[in-house]
Amino acid sequence: MASLATTERAREFAYTSADHQAVASLVYEEVGILLPDGKAQLVYGRLAPRARACGVESISAYVRLIQSDDVERARAIDALTTNHTCFFRENHHFDDFVARLWPALSARLAKGGRVRLWSAACSSGEEPYTWLMAMLGSDRGAAQRLLKGDLRMLATDVSPSVLATAREGRYSAQTLKTVPPALRNAWVKGKSDALAIDPALRDAIAFRPLNLPGEWPMQGQFDTIFCRNVMIYFDEPTKARLQSRLADRLEIGGMMYIGHSERLVGGVEKRFQCVGRTAYLKVAA
Ligand SMILES: C[S@@+](CC[C@H](N)C(=O)[O-])C[C@H]1O[C@@H](n2cnc3c(N)ncnc32)[C@H](O)[C@@H]1O
Repeated sequence: MASLATTERAREFAYTSADHQAVASLVYEEVGILLPDGKAQLVYGRLAPRARACGVESISAYVRLIQSDDVERARAIDALTTNHTCFFRENHHFDDFVARLWPALSARLAKGGRVRLWSAACSSGEEPYTWLMAMLGSDRGAAQRLLKGDLRMLATDVSPSVLATAREGRYSAQTLKTVPPALRNAWVKGKSDALAIDPALRDAIAFRPLNLPGEWPMQGQFDTIFCRNVMIYFDEPTKARLQSRLADRLEIGGMMYIGHSERLVGGVEKRFQCVGRTAYLKVAA
């Protein structure tokens, strides 16, 4: 970690190799995120403001603090998550879902049946809102009828700050630029400096904190799971265990979508048929 030593003098706090090791093992144990030495600069940049806010004199002291203080540990983990996302990201997944599963699922809903969907690692909400908009289209009347049915979308993330943004459903015009105009007209309310997702859509999603490698409080099976661009932060055993648990929670005939640079590992691929780019149909229990 030579780069640490060379940049040390310019820093407000010292950040030693031992500090980085301590942070990395704490974060790995809590949430499964890998922080290799190459991320030391980034970690320092995210923890220094927290150390300052807590009034400690060094990062070593901050590390001792987060080892014993649950609230500050959660804040540190929140600061260390990478939350990049956008509306209609990897749009081929939404197209695939709408073409492959939505006709049968919407017919089931219309007949009084239940539909359960999960956006796992939803970040600030763009993914679940995109999913709902893509499914429901721009016909608000038809959409409202479906929303009155037994449709539940769960959206979870480990980071409380992004979940707060997701729940609020307020986005800048720049962020909303990738939403097709017809869907924007149907589902985004307000003027350019105060744009918000329509409450009818927002209230159809249950945003909940959830640590993917930890306990899952929810019961029951899902018809489709999006779990995209989070497994890249995990090691192979964590990915394999997570994918196996996601497969357990998926109905046969349901879809699992993962991020563009992710892949199935650890034998779980036997339970799926790959039907498109990082798009997997569950075919076996
Ligand atoms: C890069 S974003 C991906 C967001 C969205 N799925 C997408 O593809 O646009 C990764 C998200 O994973 C979340 N995350 C990281 N580790 C997690 C964990 N252990 N449990 C749940 N979410 C986690 C982060 O907080 C972040 O919001």
